[in-house]
Amino acid sequence: MNVLGIESSCDETAAAVVRDGRHVLSSVVASQHDTHAEYAGVVPELASRAHVEKILPIVRAALEEAGVGLGMIDAVAVGHRPGLIGCLLIGVAAAKSLAWSLGKPLVGVDHVHAHLYAGALETRPTGQAPAPQLPALGLVVSGGHTSVYLVHSWTSLERLGATIDDALGEAYDKVAATLGLAFPGGPALDRLASRDGAQDHAFDFPVSRLSPHSLDFSFSGLKTAVLYAVRGVPGERDAAARELAQVPHDERRDIAASFQRAASRAVILKLDRALAHAAQRPGPTPRTLLCGGGVIANSRLRRELTAFAAQRSLTLHLPAMHYCVDNAATIAGLGAQLLRQGLASDLTLQAVPTTAT
Ligand code: KG4
Ligand code: ZN
Repeated sequence: MNVLGIESSCDETAAAVVRDGRHVLSSVVASQHDTHAEYAGVVPELASRAHVEKILPIVRAALEEAGVGLGMIDAVAVGHRPGLIGCLLIGVAAAKSLAWSLGKPLVGVDHVHAHLYAGALETRPTGQAPAPQLPALGLVVSGGHTSVYLVHSWTSLERLGATIDDALGEAYDKVAATLGLAFPGGPALDRLASRDGAQDHAFDFPVSRLSPHSLDFSFSGLKTAVLYAVRGVPGERDAAARELAQVPHDERRDIAASFQRAASRAVILKLDRALAHAAQRPGPTPRTLLCGGGVIANSRLRRELTAFAAQRSLTLHLPAMHYCVDNAATIAGLGAQLLRQGLASDLTLQAVPTTAT
């Protein structure tokens, strides 16, 4: 079964063809970073317009790269929630039109759940990698979401905790902006923190725990602590406000490394709690860790997740970098799983700004 996936929830226009739910035949992503760079954030109206311009060329490119004609498409999957409403509408309208004109099933997919599917994709043509064993613990860390899930099955995902303020990717982007790095700053901050000589203990930034059993995340305190480290604490005696230009480059590098250390520790702490929580529940304990979202591309977090999984004897499915960030292969793959369970949508499918769970 060939599923055409479409993704347009934020600032990436993407299309992909996935065979039998796992084998990626093509995955094409057009990013709008240049469009939004001067505003240091995504401007919803500009994003919607860019999707209108790009959606059909990107779908064509995905079909061409897969070597699959429209007649060989068996279903159309679309990320219909969550996201910027104007952006989602473009992908949903395109997917509905294609499904209707081809007379093929349409399936709406939750973008956040699709991030967790990244580790289930198989990119090697003759790939025989085993599919992830469920139930699994799931971590999504992106620009818009930071959540931990218990993935009972691909049609039953339970959110155990989520951020109460900033998403981790948002914190990365804001801290990067504080350090004078261009939007989206996450990858640039990762590079800065990885420079030779970086001291990740130079600054003792806070690791948010919240209440003792909380599975939620909070990153606004960490973000503010970095701002104060760069600019000085307002109102503190002897603390003259500093301009970024006065902060030596080595110090910026150490701030970036110390931020990454605190951010990664907060994530691992909550994953550990979530695993303990899941072990106390009736039913099988997860032995698999699924991860997705742009921040999973972060080099430090990847190392820490690998170490955590090894310590806790979890099988980690760490997606390839290009399946961490927004793409349509995860949408097509999860869409195939939903279709197998008879969960096709109809032409009344709506774009919805919030996630399902
Ligand atoms: O999943 P994604 O592409 O879009 C959303 O659904 O939000 O995630 C984008 C986020 C941005 O905040 C970006 O800065 C962050 O992922 N990101 C990274 C890295 N690569 C992307 N953050 C830290 N380190 C990276 N290497
Ligand atoms: Zn995303």
